Amino acid sequence: MQRIEMTNDLSYSRLVHGLWRLSDWNQSKEDTLSLIEHNLERGITTFDHADIYGSYTCEALFGEALELKPSLRDKMEIVTKCGIVLPSENRPQHKTHHYNTSREHIVQSVENSLDNLKTDYIDTLLIHRPDPFMDGEEVAEAFTQLKKDGKVRYFGVSNFKDHQWDMLQSYLPFDLITNQIELSAYHLENFEDGTLNLCQEKRISPMAWSPLAGGQVFHAEDEKAARLRDTLEKVQQETGADGIDQVLYAWLLNHPANIIPIIGSGKTERIDRAIASLDIKLNHDQWFEILQSSMGHDVP
Ligand SMILES: NC(=O)c1ccc[n+]([C@@H]2O[C@H](COP(=O)([O-])OP(=O)(O)OC[C@H]3O[C@@H](n4cnc5c(N)ncnc54)[C@H](OP(=O)(O)O)[C@@H]3O)[C@@H](O)[C@H]2O)c1
Repeated sequence: MQRIEMTNDLSYSRLVHGLWRLSDWNQSKEDTLSLIEHNLERGITTFDHADIYGSYTCEALFGEALELKPSLRDKMEIVTKCGIVLPSENRPQHKTHHYNTSREHIVQSVENSLDNLKTDYIDTLLIHRPDPFMDGEEVAEAFTQLKKDGKVRYFGVSNFKDHQWDMLQSYLPFDLITNQIELSAYHLENFEDGTLNLCQEKRISPMAWSPLAGGQVFHAEDEKAARLRDTLEKVQQETGADGIDQVLYAWLLNHPANIIPIIGSGKTERIDRAIASLDIKLNHDQWFEILQSSMGHDVP
């Protein structure tokens, strides 16, 4: 599988596996290990986590599986996130849903992630959401310490707009390496508001969350979803794709910004379908037909 150079000594697989829904899959740790191995054997080596996934349980479920075969750690890249604080039965001390990007919170969150994931280092730590209460100096102190201690190799952000990126970057002694944003043919905001252009300007590859719009494209009953399904089916037939999911992936993969889709399914057959979408080429007509059916009108 193609790899994307994120830095001179870190690359991601062209497709990433996301573990947000891991606790819903009700797997044994042996099943999770098989899923990890399924991905690695096919070249999907990058795994996306966050401290809060599964109400703070998913990192540990992954770590318990990895503990069965620790030698796999060196064959993968682990991305995780921090900065959102959720009330949860697993965190009774959290009273409100809020953000915390203080030095203390970031460092503690990484310690928890290392412990849960059963690893000594995180390849990339992302600030999960822009924090209106953020102190750039504190984030810089936390990042610098974590890098110096060898606990985190590189840093990025998620859901940041350009001014939020620039603000945080201005405090850091090293470059942010990615922005993980919502990108799909169904959700166009980041295509339309300049966020994707920011990634192109900075020459960074964005990670795309919910590339299938969290499954909405398949079953939502709104007009946009229905319109989009019709166009995706048409393009599916033209390209010989095996389903509209593959066309949705191909729509992102064919974009020149080196978008890295994060697969959200835990089903191996759906992961394999995502991999097969790497071979689908869309021409300009097809790419724009999909865009326009999502927008509901032609480009000007
Ligand atoms: N940074 C952020 O703020 C943020 C936010 C959300 C997500 N993420 C990351 O992005 C990853 C992917 O997000 P996502 O899970 O929303 O991705 P997604 O691929 O857009 O959606 C996955 C959902 O679509 C369903 N699905 C997949 N193929 C389908 C098909 N052919 N027909 C019907 N349903 C289908 C899956 O069901 P099955 O499970 O049954 O296959 C699953 O419920 C997450 O795991 C997480 O790592 C990041």
